[in-house]
Amino acid sequence: MLTLNNSHLVKDTDPRLRNKSEPVPLPLSKADRNVLEAMLNYVRRSTNPEWAEKENLSPAVGLAAAQVGVFKRMLVVIVEEEIGEDQYEMREFALVNPKIVSHSEQRCMLANGEACLSVDEIHEGFVPRYARLKIKAYDMLTDKEVEFKVTGYTGIVLQHEIDHLNGVLYYDHINKTDPWTKKEKDIVIE
Ligand code: NI
Repeated sequence: MLTLNNSHLVKDTDPRLRNKSEPVPLPLSKADRNVLEAMLNYVRRSTNPEWAEKENLSPAVGLAAAQVGVFKRMLVVIVEEEIGEDQYEMREFALVNPKIVSHSEQRCMLANGEACLSVDEIHEGFVPRYARLKIKAYDMLTDKEVEFKVTGYTGIVLQHEIDHLNGVLYYDHINKTDPWTKKEKDIVIE
């Protein structure tokens, strides 16, 4: 089994991180599936402080294959979603060839900005993202083509990872002259 840890991470000092990743042939090959499963394991285990320390992982909510040196259009995201009042559920994504098929005009952003396992320096400022979007992809967890809507935080994390597949980093979206500027209709997520 393939195991990933921080020694595999490609940092933004490496120009390869700016590459556009290649589409993945379907059905999914054993090798591609192994990479995606290893990415999922990294993110799953990274939020347990004990495992993270022992296995050299950094707390993560998402990972794109490019970040572990595999320049193919694959990503994983694990987020906690509010499903009711004070009710939360973990939602896992392991997506191949994800595409944004439609999105809102309205934008949203995290109140404290974003961060990335591939970026060691701090880049402060709002990272505007679509507030609502529809994504189409091949889902490794169900082995099906899927199309689904996401909003808010889940949507932000998915957009961050899809950006990696196009060689785009979160700080590319920060306004250079006024990092904390926003439009009236933008939603700021605490
Ligand atoms: Ni990132």
